[in-house]
Amino acid sequence: MEIFVNATEIERQKSIAESLRSRFAAEGAEKRVFARTYGCQQNEADTEKMLGLAALCGYKKVETPEAADLIIVNTCAIREHAEKRTFSCTGAYKKLKEQNPSLIILFCGCMAQERGVAEKIKRSYPYIDAVVGTDSNHRLPQIINDVLCTRKRSYHVNDLPHAEFGVIAEDIPSLRASGYKAWVSVMYGCNNYCTYCIVPYVRGRERSRRYEDVVAEVGGLVEKGYKDITLLGQNVNSYSGGVSFAKLLEKCASFGGEYRLRFMTSHPKDASAELMDVMAAYPNICSHFHLPVQSGSDRVLADMNRRYTRESYLQKVAYLREKIPGVTLTSDIICGFPGETEADFEQTLSLIRQVRFDMLYTFIYSPRPGTSAAMRADQIPYEEKLRRFEQLSQTQLQITIEQNERHVGKTLRVLSEGEGAARTEGGTLVSLDSTPPAGIFADAVITAAHPANLEGKLI
Ligand code: SAH
Ligand code: SF4
Ligand code: F3S
Repeated sequence: MEIFVNATEIERQKSIAESLRSRFAAEGAEKRVFARTYGCQQNEADTEKMLGLAALCGYKKVETPEAADLIIVNTCAIREHAEKRTFSCTGAYKKLKEQNPSLIILFCGCMAQERGVAEKIKRSYPYIDAVVGTDSNHRLPQIINDVLCTRKRSYHVNDLPHAEFGVIAEDIPSLRASGYKAWVSVMYGCNNYCTYCIVPYVRGRERSRRYEDVVAEVGGLVEKGYKDITLLGQNVNSYSGGVSFAKLLEKCASFGGEYRLRFMTSHPKDASAELMDVMAAYPNICSHFHLPVQSGSDRVLADMNRRYTRESYLQKVAYLREKIPGVTLTSDIICGFPGETEADFEQTLSLIRQVRFDMLYTFIYSPRPGTSAAMRADQIPYEEKLRRFEQLSQTQLQITIEQNERHVGKTLRVLSEGEGAARTEGGTLVSLDSTPPAGIFADAVITAAHPANLEGKLI
């Protein structure tokens, strides 16, 4: 199957959008859209594109579902907890639909593409108008138009095998949530099949945008005055749009003016010396590396199909720290993966004490339908997973405080987010007594460190 959506198809969607907009204008109808986004930055980026298309159709963005004629729910399937929350929030829209039968509700994102979810919605959520899988976002104008014309419910879920589906739609306008921070997807999908993870099943095969397209988008953002640009992909190091990811990053860092460039996420098996060298060479590439380790035990890492060892992970960290002294290092850990013994868990604790991450995102293992780990018989009881989670969080808390303390007394370049908040290059929040407007750089001297933030004074 062709990866790039045909340009004529994109034009067709835009012309449907155009006619919807004229129609609303002729009726004197003011249309409003509300979007609720769950999950990762990839979803944030997708929402901005769907809002961009909704804007072409004539919808104005609003901040409450009550005020909307169109509700976009962009969902995440990564853990069961996220799904439960999504279903319960979506349940609240039933009332809105009763009050306003012409309201359109679209259920989009990773859950929409998950096995069994469309059927569940068909059965139990009659007020949802369409289920829109991750591959159909670019068809939003058509989907809205069809709902308006027929009021029939529709399901746009890809039924190809997950290793075969997945497209790239270029030239979709984004309605960005921020005027100074921007997400730029460089690739979509994932082929890694970590045994706990649902992403490859709901986002399809790994595919990369063309080098020229990414560079043009980043260049355009810098020109418009964006100050904090994040290149996104599930595993940016396997980028294959014409050059290596390191080369892409280097090019994106080479526009003039002061701005910050970030990227997420790197898979430890592919995080290359070439990438770390580029980071070290360009001061506007943030000295922050998010390198999810998941576990400190080689046995568990092998069971997770991560394809690196504790030792090779530690070597990469050592190289990174040698090249970029003081680099902010963050990571993800899953506790209670099936078969994880107390000894394995101890290995994870010892790894985090050894590495001393600046910050750690800790997750309780959640069995995901269709993944191989979910089918294992040796699941860890919830109470035990929770106990490990708490012990891990406590251990890291102390390390995070100590890591944050190393900034006290130093002067750091921060990017203002307005209202007394700013961020360091490493992404750490700094509370200030006053800030310049959001999107302006400033220097601050750090006066105190807390677990979740630093305190500082503007110079
Ligand atoms: N592509 C990224 C991760 C995307 S998911 C990467 O490879 O690093 C973000 C994090 O969610 C993962 O790093 C993992 O720690 C966590 N996660 C994924 N599946 C999970 C599951 N089934 N249960 C608990 N945590 C999970
Ligand atoms: Fe999931 Fe692994 Fe792919 Fe990350 S690399 S999205 S954890 S399968
Ligand atoms: Fe969730 Fe999909 Fe991201 S499952 S974490 S929104 S890729």
